[in-house]
Amino acid sequence: MGKRKGIILAGGTGSRLYPITIGLSKQLLPIYDKPMIYYPLSVLMLAGIREIAVITTPQDRDQFIRTLGDGSQWGIDLSYIEQPNPEGLAQAYILAEGFLDGASSAMVLGDNIFFGHGLPEMLAGADAQGAGGTVFGYHVADPERYGVVAFDADGRVRDIIEKPEVPPSNYAVTGLYFLDGSAPERARAVTPSARGELEIADLLGMYLAEGTLRVETMGRGYAWLDTGTHASLLDAGNFVRTLEQRQGLQAGCPEEIAYGHGWISADQLAARAQMFAKGSYGTYLAGLLK
Ligand code: G1P
Repeated sequence: MGKRKGIILAGGTGSRLYPITIGLSKQLLPIYDKPMIYYPLSVLMLAGIREIAVITTPQDRDQFIRTLGDGSQWGIDLSYIEQPNPEGLAQAYILAEGFLDGASSAMVLGDNIFFGHGLPEMLAGADAQGAGGTVFGYHVADPERYGVVAFDADGRVRDIIEKPEVPPSNYAVTGLYFLDGSAPERARAVTPSARGELEIADLLGMYLAEGTLRVETMGRGYAWLDTGTHASLLDAGNFVRTLEQRQGLQAGCPEEIAYGHGWISADQLAARAQMFAKGSYGTYLAGLLK
């Protein structure tokens, strides 16, 4: 098995924020002081993943390349894959099959924000699993909007149901999926749902049926934030602002993670700090050098 590779799915979802025709990529909108995609990117980097494919619509591809480049500024290797039509999360594995080349993967949705003490350890645990996969269950007030975990009487995971009318629990499956190298092959066996998508829940169901899917609970000490509506987008920005102002530490800062891993040199970090010299982000990066 090769080293685990990363996928950021930043395709054109049926966004309730702006119609895709307006030309704004949702995942590049700012969450307080940085583009939204920095947060899921940081999660993959925290997991030690350096080879990452960004899946975008053909129209949005150039915007993502302009924003993220080839990843060398963070000591990682970014490539881009086009998703002509948003036909479900499981489709990402089919599109990324060549990129993955048999390797296991961690896929994160480009609009998902995770924060919490212990996140690196939790990611390391998921990464360490060989065959099968790990996903994360998170208690939410509105589970019907998500893939939802159904538990049996012993608390074991029985099923994952996509957007159930009557949710079997309050545990939503977050948009972060650690799967083994068989995911693309399995994804090709998924048939479109009523909403015409290759559902991730169906792909996960295959692993569940074999007893190789771990559903790990992200406890209340974690924040898993949504950016799907105008209000939740603003809430996420306010959350990051509150945290960063109080702590004087950045959330979702790829430079900091890269430097911490030793993936970039002090000179490279200084160059990034210089790029952002006019703002607080640059000041923060410069501070990391001291
Ligand atoms: C998707 C998945 C769902 C998951 C959610 C996490 O929902 O289908 O299972 O819980 O992402 O953000 P969608 O973005 O398609 O509404």
